[in-house]
Amino acid sequence: DDIDKYFGIKGSKILLRIDINSPIDPETKDILDDSRIRAHAVTVRELVERGAAVVAMSHQGRPGDSDFVSLGKHAELLEKHTGLPVRFIDDVIGPAAREAIKSLQPGEVLLLDNTRLVSEEIIEATPEKHAESIFVTRLAPLFNYYVNDAFATAHRSQPSIVGFPMRLPSAAGRVMERELTALSKLYNPEERPRVFVLGGGKVHDTLRILEHLHSNGAVDRILATGLVAELFMVAKGINIGEANLRVLEAKGLLSLLPRARRLLLRGLPIETPVDFRTLVDDHIEVETIGHIKGVIKDIGPQTVKMYTEIMKEARLIVMRGPAGVIEDPRFREGSRELVRAAIESNAYVIVGGGHLNSIIAELGLAGRPNLHISTGGGALLLFLAGEDLPGLTALAKSAEKFFSQLT
Ligand code: 3PG
Repeated sequence: DDIDKYFGIKGSKILLRIDINSPIDPETKDILDDSRIRAHAVTVRELVERGAAVVAMSHQGRPGDSDFVSLGKHAELLEKHTGLPVRFIDDVIGPAAREAIKSLQPGEVLLLDNTRLVSEEIIEATPEKHAESIFVTRLAPLFNYYVNDAFATAHRSQPSIVGFPMRLPSAAGRVMERELTALSKLYNPEERPRVFVLGGGKVHDTLRILEHLHSNGAVDRILATGLVAELFMVAKGINIGEANLRVLEAKGLLSLLPRARRLLLRGLPIETPVDFRTLVDDHIEVETIGHIKGVIKDIGPQTVKMYTEIMKEARLIVMRGPAGVIEDPRFREGSRELVRAAIESNAYVIVGGGHLNSIIAELGLAGRPNLHISTGGGALLLFLAGEDLPGLTALAKSAEKFFSQLT
């Protein structure tokens, strides 16, 4: 709206940063949940309806991981959800991408390939530094404006998030706007106890988030699952079994033990599971801590019971990341039970990150009035911890630079 008011959108070319980073099937490379694509389709359509040529860009996964893929399938889904033809180009900043951008006409949509194919995109640096990157200096001159709709990546200080706002008049997109409005309304600091249910595979990020949550006093209880739980169990001196220790070691997570121990010493209120569903020679077993022989795949029934009791006391529950390997249908139970218990409690529930969306849909709980499904994962948790998000700071700097003399 601000861009339209002060400069005019009709006939312009807009670079739109979206976050359609989605869970990907490791074998088929199919997109397992398209809720982020659906969400951003609204922004794309609105900009097209207002007469802009729209070039969308997003990251997907991280180099080296099995979900680091090209965005061809994303383009097909964006086309389906916008109802508009979406051209895809398997290039980000090279001559082919630049030609395609130059020839794009008002009312047309182009999706660039995975931004993390550009090595600069992995670097975290200041907006000023990224404004000088090759990524930004090559693309910025081809556009009139930059719109950041990627709330879910607002915690990354990467060129596609913080560099362009320094070079182009910029604004927040509809998804970003909706998230910030909803979360500021929801997040009443008086609503306590606040319980965070944290799982999933991004252990480095989760540890960083726990440090922020704890030092800002933003959390009362943490119910850990997944690899984060295993790390804290080792930090507490609990035997998680040889096989699981080896998994932590292979993923380079044992180096995080000193940080986990420091948090425990400072009184981080974290609960860890008391039992797990494990795989022992291809058989599924339920094993109690102290006697674990198999590979941990999900939390067990006693843990579900204990976590459900704790959630009953909560006023606000924030959930991120699955409790088990939910890509395998045999290990969805723990996540299903926790999601159900949270939504059926008396608390307001904020769910972040894409992985739990399929569980919520499968349980038919998506429309519940006490539930906000956020597009954000790490960004959501840092926002709730009261941290400044680089993506938002860059938009504020851009407004100062390009809008302040106009208002
Ligand atoms: C997310 O899913 O949290 C965002 O897309 C950010 O992805 P990243 O953790 O790989 O930066």
